[in-house]
Formats: sequence, structure tokens, C-alpha cells
Amino acid sequence: MSSESDELQDLVPADARSIYSETVIDHAMAPRNLEAIQNADGFASERGPCGDTMEIWLRIKSGCIARATFMTDGCGPSIASGSMVTEMATGKSTGEAHRITQRDVLDALGGLPEDSEHCALLAAKTLKAALKDYIATKQEPWKRTYRRH
Ligand code: FES
Repeated sequence: MSSESDELQDLVPADARSIYSETVIDHAMAPRNLEAIQNADGFASERGPCGDTMEIWLRIKSGCIARATFMTDGCGPSIASGSMVTEMATGKSTGEAHRITQRDVLDALGGLPEDSEHCALLAAKTLKAALKDYIATKQEPWKRTYRRH
């Protein structure tokens, strides 16, 4: 962990530490892959039951995810979930990445409070939707013209 990350960790209130795992706090405070990809091979924007949105961009090379990035207007756990799911997807084949579940994200994060578990579901769902978009635009590349990203 970098010293910048250490400094951020010092800002985390003690009550947050009693609720969230160190991994959740780390990914929420210093999210990985937090950016858009121009002309991505796969993109999805999904809305969770809470009304928050997550977007995921994929760069695919030779059937594997070379790069996965995300943005969200959601809560801290959704930032941690987006960060974790993009880390988990990177380097995997599209088939392997499609099998990443909410449970996998929760396990990798060291769990989330029950009322935040849907944030991990939003991340897993958005990844699956971005992979679906990749397949659709691969089969019909003209669809990319009408995509916002
Ligand atoms: Fe909406 Fe976490 S994604 S509360």
C-alpha cells in the first residue's frame, strides 16, 4: 500500500472500521480502474435497486479482458465493488469474467454489511452487461455508432 493510501486510511473514522473490512476501505478510498475508456469494446450502464448507477468499460484483446474500468455515482461500498470487480475481471477470458458473481465480489471484499450487499450485485451485473455489449457489438459493429461511450 502506498504512503498516499496510508494517509487516506488515517482519515477513515473508527466506526467505519468496525463496519467494513480493510479491503473495502482500501478500495473505497483508493479505487482502482476509476476512469472511462474511449471507444471501448464493451460498455454498460446499470442502475441498482437503490437508484445508483454503475458504468463499466472493457478493452478486450484475443478474447481476454486487457482492461476493465468503472465509474459510479453510488456509495462507498459501490466504489469498492466496482474497483474490485474490475480488478477481478482484468486478465480473465470473457467466459471466465462472465462467471464472476455477486458472491465472488463479496468474498473478495471480505464481505459487506447486509444492506450494502446489493452494491456488489450492481458491480457483477454491470460487468455481465458490458460483456453482453461486447458480444453484441462484435457481431454487429455498427451498433457502436449509436453507443454513448
Ligand atoms: Fe446504491 Fe450502494 S450502490 S447504496
